[in-house]
Amino acid sequence: MILSIESSCDDSSIAITEIETKKVVYHKKISQDSEHSKYGGVVPELAARLHSEALPKILEECKPYFEAIRAIAVTNEPGLSVTLVEGATMAKALSISLHKPLIAVNHLKGHIASLFIEEDAVFPMITLLVSGGHTMVLKVEDFFRYEVLASTLDDSFGESFDKVAKMLSLGYPGGPIVEEYAKRGDSARFDFTIPLYNSNRLAFSYSGLKNQVRLTIESLGELTKKEKEDICASFQRVAIAHLMHKIKKVLKTKKEDIKTFSIVGGASANLTLRESLFGLCREFGMDLKLAKLEFCSDNAAMIGRYAIEAYKMGYFTNIEDLKVSPKVKEG
Ligand code: KG4
Ligand code: ZN
Repeated sequence: MILSIESSCDDSSIAITEIETKKVVYHKKISQDSEHSKYGGVVPELAARLHSEALPKILEECKPYFEAIRAIAVTNEPGLSVTLVEGATMAKALSISLHKPLIAVNHLKGHIASLFIEEDAVFPMITLLVSGGHTMVLKVEDFFRYEVLASTLDDSFGESFDKVAKMLSLGYPGGPIVEEYAKRGDSARFDFTIPLYNSNRLAFSYSGLKNQVRLTIESLGELTKKEKEDICASFQRVAIAHLMHKIKKVLKTKKEDIKTFSIVGGASANLTLRESLFGLCREFGMDLKLAKLEFCSDNAAMIGRYAIEAYKMGYFTNIEDLKVSPKVKEG
């Protein structure tokens, strides 16, 4: 079995996965949403302190499995340095005390592996990764070979939901709250423009849309609940239209004979986004592959799923080489 740890942002999570069967025999996640909500976003130092309390508590429950553990996997990039360190330190300590090798896992590769938790993988695919830190379209050849086809120039898709929620004083994380408000709102009420619409660039941009929302909020003064719902609905419509517009361009130029489109990351839980992508996949004759809802947001089971493949390939990391990094390293 592999014991995997995830602490790249505000979720403390540990999973234990059987290497041969890919079965997740243990998985726990302690989220910090309520602690960060009053600040309208994640406070890194607070997140680190909460990880240092939560991770040992979860690990305590994993003790019965220790004898069966063959490797320790941990997210080492990208993420918040102060929170990544919490997981990495625990992983190093376990590696030394259990005499088992370490596997450093890139968080984004973990999100991609979330599609195949407890199942066999199907490649190649075009994947949309939408999280709080990233918005990318990738060509995924297998667990280890990826090509970035488009990414964001500024804010990410999920981050823009968080920022809109903050401007409307709706709490954190913004994605699920904005989606809920949007259900009751009139999406045609505010005519926000779709970012980069007249540009041929295969790229995303969300900071301009966020500013359009800000200006609208300022012009309205004190907001009624109905106005907040209409802002959320109009914002969500345009945020998704932007994704669809650029993904369509990617598929027209890069699809080749790839038959699977997948979507991963916390924001892939958005049902309106899922519906729009179903439509797009139908148009391009592709199957849409989704992760189970419980594995869309950050979790250690996805880190474990990637680690199974790394373990089989012998991709281990020396303890002195395990470094955390807020960014994805080149190459
Ligand atoms: O993957 P994730 O759990 O953490 C990162 O790796 O960032 O993604 C969290 C992000 C947050 O920005 C959150 O607001 C967004 O995903 N999110 C959503 C929804 N659920 C979560 N965004 C839009 N609609 C949702 N339903
Ligand atoms: Zn994530």
